[in-house]
Amino acid sequence: MNIRIFDTMQQASAAGAEIIAQAIAAKPNTVLGLATGSTPVAMYKELIRMNKAGEVDFAKVRSYNLDEYIGLDGTHDQSYRYFMDDNLFNHVNIDKANTHVPCGTGADHAADAKHYDEMIDAAGGIDVQVLGIGNNGHIGFNEPLTPFTSMTHIVKLTDSTREANKRFFASIDDVPTHAVTMGIHTVMQARSIILMAFGEGKAEIIKKTVEGRPEIAVPASLLQLHEDVEIYLDEAAASKLS
Ligand code: PGA
Repeated sequence: MNIRIFDTMQQASAAGAEIIAQAIAAKPNTVLGLATGSTPVAMYKELIRMNKAGEVDFAKVRSYNLDEYIGLDGTHDQSYRYFMDDNLFNHVNIDKANTHVPCGTGADHAADAKHYDEMIDAAGGIDVQVLGIGNNGHIGFNEPLTPFTSMTHIVKLTDSTREANKRFFASIDDVPTHAVTMGIHTVMQARSIILMAFGEGKAEIIKKTVEGRPEIAVPASLLQLHEDVEIYLDEAAASKLS
C-alpha cells in the first residue's frame, strides 16, 4: 500500500483525479470502477472541471460502479445510479451506455449479479478502482466477514451501515435492507486501486486497515494483499497512524 497524507481533502481529491486522468490519457477506453458516498464527490468535481478544461476526455471511458441498493431504480434520488449521473456522468462527455451500475430492481438478483461480473470480464477487467471506506471497514457493501472469494452478490446491510446512511432518507425505515455489491474478489481483481478517506471519523478504521493484520473482519485491510493500492488521506483521517 502506498499511503499519502494531504493537508486537505481537496488536495487529496485533486491527486486522485490526476491518477484517473493519467490512466485515461494512457488508455482512452480505460475501465473505471467507481464509488458513491461523500468521499469521492470532490474528486468527481475535479474531474468535471478537468473535462470542461479539455484535460481529460471520457468519450471512450467505460465504468462499473461498486454497488446499488436493492429496490431503488435509477429515478430514486438515493439510488447510486442517480448519484453517479448527478455527481459525474451528466457533467462530462462520457457515453451513458458505457456506464454501469449493478441492477437492484431485476427479477433475478443472483443472475443479474453474475452477469455484472461477466460484463466486467468482457470489458477486460477494471483498470482503476475507486474506493471509499465504511466506518466498519466495508468496501462497496462488503461488510465485515464477507468471504475473500466473493464476487458480485446480494448483501443484507448491517445496522451500522443503515444507521450511517439514514441521513439521506426520510427515516431509518426508508433505508433499504439489502444491496448488490461487487465482491471482495471482484475488487481485488482490479489492476490498481485508490482508496480515499477523509475526516476524523475515519481515523480508527484507517489505522486498522493499514496497520492491522489483513483479515475479513476488516474488509479494507485485505487490500494489503493487492500489489497496487494508493491510500489518499487528509490529516484527520491519518491522525491515528503511528
Ligand atoms: P462515505 O461512505 O464516503 O459517505 O464516508 C463510504 C462508505 O460507506 O463506503
